[in-house]
Amino acid sequence: MSVLSGRCVVLGVTGSIAAYKAVEVCNRLVDSGAHVIPVLTKSATRMIGLATFSALASEPAKTSLWHDLRTPIPHIVVCRKADLILVCPATARLISDLRTGRSADLLTATISASQAPLLVVPAMHAEMWEQPAVQDNMSVLVERGASVVWPVEGRLAGGDVGLGRMADPSVVLAAVEKELSPRDFQERRVLVTAGGTSEPIDAVRFIGNRSSGRQGCAIAAAAHARGAVVELVVTRNAQAHIPSGVKVTTVETASEMLAAVKAKAPAADVVVMAAAVADFRPRASYTGKISKNTGIPKLELEATEDILIVLGSQRKPSQILVGFAAETEDIEVKARRKLEDKQLQVIVANDVSKDQVGFDYETNEVLIITSTGDRLHVPLTSKSEIARSMLDVVAGMMSKAGM
Ligand code: CTP
Repeated sequence: MSVLSGRCVVLGVTGSIAAYKAVEVCNRLVDSGAHVIPVLTKSATRMIGLATFSALASEPAKTSLWHDLRTPIPHIVVCRKADLILVCPATARLISDLRTGRSADLLTATISASQAPLLVVPAMHAEMWEQPAVQDNMSVLVERGASVVWPVEGRLAGGDVGLGRMADPSVVLAAVEKELSPRDFQERRVLVTAGGTSEPIDAVRFIGNRSSGRQGCAIAAAAHARGAVVELVVTRNAQAHIPSGVKVTTVETASEMLAAVKAKAPAADVVVMAAAVADFRPRASYTGKISKNTGIPKLELEATEDILIVLGSQRKPSQILVGFAAETEDIEVKARRKLEDKQLQVIVANDVSKDQVGFDYETNEVLIITSTGDRLHVPLTSKSEIARSMLDVVAGMMSKAGM
């Protein structure tokens, strides 16, 4: 189940041209199981129609304090349902109203009356965003506890370019998930590896594998959302999936990953080795490109070091080591053997011969086994859900062990 499942998000939409992106945000929130109540300001309705939000959201879009006289206090009705109020996009005027507590329409009245957390997603022209008044208003909102998805540099309305463009809907979604996630990893240090290592043969060729890094990056994102301080050691080919808010070290080969992980593991409470690390590498790699005119080269391979075995041998008692097992048969037997041989506390095993499971896919199906005897099958679902289930298991182990 998604962290958004059954949670109520009041989606406030204001009159920025970025209002069209709020449609995508609304759609994705509903897809993730959230109950979305759209509340549009009058100027938002000039940018985008109420009917669009009514069709996509969980309740008809609302815009006025006076639209339904059978509900005389609509702002109170709406705000009492909210687990989160998301203002996306937020104009300079709305930000100013939030600072002063001005309650001029259904959206500002709802926010004024609400105890729910507030997430603000500003979007405006660079000149407006840079105004000291706007910056000052933002500082006050942050001081009072509002969370912000900060605008980015990019193309603005009218073809201008600058800072003020609304963040991508996927970034907004991640921020909503963070707001609604449990904070059970608060201040925990979590080290995650992601991607697949590449072992060079020559200047242009390498031995690689099919790992995209999606699963490891989803774990890093979920741990960050739950309050962890996350270090992500990620291979170059997985850069596209790196979430925001985590500290990133980029590596390419198994030995670079070993060096990075060895340096960072002692400080970590939890280490998750989600990366697909090469077991073999060419004994020698050529500095230039091998030409086919020189004949077919003979590749001599040597074993790489097993990073998890190194970590298992030097683990402090309070540290939890999580390994992955990519298998094609006898999943559980092989996973249990790896759990024991590598001295792990948790192993996440998947059958990569199944359709939609593991490498290259957006989805996964796993069996999570712990050294304390727990066993959890997670049926085919998104990699974010797999990440959450795995973190639930780790959180359960930490709390049982009084860690
Ligand atoms: N792993 C590692 N160092 C390696 C190889 C693998 O730390 N040199 C880790 C992976 O990150 C994963 C776990 O070990 O968490 C299991 O990886 P997997 O490829 O399933 O198994 P291997 O141990 O490599 O064994 P085999 O290839 O024989 O299945």
